[in-house]
Amino acid sequence: MKKGIILLGSSSSNGETFKVSKYLSEKTNYQIIDLKSKNIGPFDYEFKNGNDDFLPLMKEIVDKYDIIVFATPVYWYAMSGTMKIFFDRISDCIKIEKETGRKLKGKQMAVLSCGSDDELKNGFYMPFIESANYLKMKYVGNVHCWLEGEEIPEEVKHNLNQFAQDIL
Ligand SMILES: Cc1cc2nc3c(=O)[nH]c(=O)nc-3n(C[C@H](O)[C@H](O)[C@H](O)COP(=O)(O)O)c2cc1C
Repeated sequence: MKKGIILLGSSSSNGETFKVSKYLSEKTNYQIIDLKSKNIGPFDYEFKNGNDDFLPLMKEIVDKYDIIVFATPVYWYAMSGTMKIFFDRISDCIKIEKETGRKLKGKQMAVLSCGSDDELKNGFYMPFIESANYLKMKYVGNVHCWLEGEEIPEEVKHNLNQFAQDIL
């Protein structure tokens, strides 16, 4: 199995996206990094947030892992704001921290989404796929999850097992 990390971009550190991420983490032994626990400010043209937690985290990721699983809830048909801020900040790695940016090349990207609906609208994964293309990362796949009550349905467990086995 590859060396991977799950980046959790939920507004809840122990919410539904966390629950399915934890299931995946147990299957893969990939650790979860909770972006909510980090101090990561929005992209700034003058890089005023350059001393926050983004760059140390990004350096750790590019140095240690081959595959990044972006785990995001579906908020208003799109990735969460927390996850989008993280993606926006990757621009720091293109504009000033170029050495770190270059190390993204060749890494793999996968996406776990979690919504209340068992279906996603068309195009949900497009920003991930195109960002991977732009960064010369390899987009390897995605899995959509939902909960029923507090539980992970068997269908979702099956999809996560397949995802872990075939992609990660
Ligand atoms: C602000 C907000 C917007 C949401 N928009 C959607 C949506 O567009 N589609 C959907 O299926 N679920 C939507 N949901 C439901 C969440 O995606 C779902 O409950 C998810 O499992 C929550 O994960 P979390 O506990 O990690 O936040 C939304 C929830 C919130 C809080």
